[in-house]
Amino acid sequence: MERRRIGCLLVLMVAFPVWAGSAVEAIQQHRHMGVATCASSVCHGASQPFKESNVWQNEFARWQEYDPHATKALQALRSEKGQSIARKLGLGDATRAAVCLDCHADNVPEASRGERFQMSDGVGCEACHGGAELWLTSHAGKDVDHADNLAKGMYPTADPVRRAELCLSCHMGTPERMITHRIMGAGHPRLSFELDTFTWLPEVTHYQVDDDYIRRKGAFNGVRDWGIGQGVAAANLLDILLDPRHGWDGIFPELVLFDCLACHKPMASGRWGPRPGTGLGPGVVRLNDANLVMFRHVLAAVDRAASARIGELTRALHRATTEGRAQTEQAARRLAAEVRALLPKVAAADWGADSLLPILDSLLADAERGEFRDYAAAEQAAMAANSVLAAYEASGALGEDRARQLRSRIDALYDRVKDEDRYEMAGFVAALRELRRAAG
Ligand code: HEC
Ligand code: HEC
Ligand code: HEC
Ligand code: HEC
Repeated sequence: MERRRIGCLLVLMVAFPVWAGSAVEAIQQHRHMGVATCASSVCHGASQPFKESNVWQNEFARWQEYDPHATKALQALRSEKGQSIARKLGLGDATRAAVCLDCHADNVPEASRGERFQMSDGVGCEACHGGAELWLTSHAGKDVDHADNLAKGMYPTADPVRRAELCLSCHMGTPERMITHRIMGAGHPRLSFELDTFTWLPEVTHYQVDDDYIRRKGAFNGVRDWGIGQGVAAANLLDILLDPRHGWDGIFPELVLFDCLACHKPMASGRWGPRPGTGLGPGVVRLNDANLVMFRHVLAAVDRAASARIGELTRALHRATTEGRAQTEQAARRLAAEVRALLPKVAAADWGADSLLPILDSLLADAERGEFRDYAAAEQAAMAANSVLAAYEASGALGEDRARQLRSRIDALYDRVKDEDRYEMAGFVAALRELRRAAG
């Protein structure tokens, strides 16, 4: 854990001189004043975007109307399904269970709730932007810049490493907000996340990157964010594995960290085949290494030697899981340190249009040697291709025709991962080959 904070600090020193603790600690550092304090029509509750303003100022209206964080997140706990999950776990009412509220609302400690705070707001503004106690009155001032706000405890959502840590605290689980295999066993859906894709899904966006955004907050790059998201998720999985409270459940390691379909498939499917990236034989439960595999592809465009090193350390980790707990923890620690050390390099790379082909080549090379046998990695590969393409489309580096052609190949790739229970590698590999061919 210590190592992690140092890693983050190095990244942040460049642009964001702020808090170096975990995302959850940072978000909860100051009092949460409540969504009502943001929602006035002259603040963020306008019905139409303001033309004269840097920000739209209709963020509240958009959030309330479209954003699943606003109403659906808590609704999920009230629903039949949510209640049934909590009942099976012996938790009673899901809307009162801290373990559920931690991710489905803004569950700050009692003492940190301002007068207008309401749990019924769900995942409100301050669940992502941090407690507004110190910046609520100052942040709309004419002479106030982004750095002033960050210094008063606004969370740095524009920084990709910190944004990844924030989103993943609910969309993957961290040692502080943990989703366990027991919760999955009670019927909770499997969690899946990709930073760039999820940041721009239309139901959650209440922001856009334009000239004044770049002036205020720095440049934005979707491929960079995809890469950072993979690295942070990979390191997070290793942190949980190493966490003394959550890494193990009785005599077993925490199963949520493993490839679900290593266990959950029909006994007689006869579909086992080697995955060189794991080096494991048949009949072995394997860690879910989807984010580690993707991080290797990220690095293929910026540092080939580092990419190969991550591949070797990942294999070493898989081997260590067949040897023992001490060996596993040692390998996990080494790998997490290596991933974190590489994040600044990924954040600083220029991610121009010339990184498109190395990334696709790297994905395809893996596909050809059987690496996408596991659904979780194939699903991440589809989101990777999508993010990489969307970023080049946005940069104008692709012509309209070529963009349209590639888009239809991406749709075909997504079709192949629509249903995890019917995933089949050969079709996925064929679709990836088609995409690579269309990319030129
Ligand atoms: C680590 C964070 C986390 C924890 C802990 C957690 N959830 Fe969730 N839950 C999520 C996320 C994120 C989703 C949305 C998954 C998606 O669609 O990508 C979700 C989805 C759900 C859904 C499905 C909602 C729908 O619209 O289909 C239900 C029901 C649910 N959670 C109930 C619970 C209950 C009950 C608990 C407590 C036992 C709980 N969750 C604990 C993060 C969490
Ligand atoms: C699920 C997390 C999340 C929630 C909830 C959320 N935001 Fe945001 N918000 C973001 C992200 C991510 C960005 C884009 C990155 C950035 O500019 O910092 C952003 C950006 C913004 C911006 C800045 C846009 C710009 O051009 O600089 C404003 C203003 C904003 N949000 C207001 C709100 C308000 C008001 C609410 C509640 C009604 C809210 N947000 C709820 C995540 C969230
Ligand atoms: C406090 C926990 C929390 C945080 C922090 C959070 N989310 Fe969520 N998010 C949820 C829950 C819970 C849901 C599921 C709501 C539902 O549909 O039931 C969700 C749903 C979503 C969805 C819709 C997913 C879908 O399958 O349609 C997107 C997109 C999303 N979140 C993006 C983000 C991004 C980007 C961030 C970081 C900037 C973020 N979230 C941070 C809890 C959180
Ligand atoms: C090491 C093997 C293993 C791994 C890996 C594993 N599970 Fe399980 N899972 C089990 C076992 C054992 C049960 C309990 C079956 C029972 O109670 O009869 C179970 C039960 C479940 C159930 C309840 C099924 C039912 O019949 O109600 C769900 C849902 C589930 N797991 C989801 C997941 C998800 C999602 C993942 C990956 C994040 C995962 N599992 C990873 C072994 C595994």
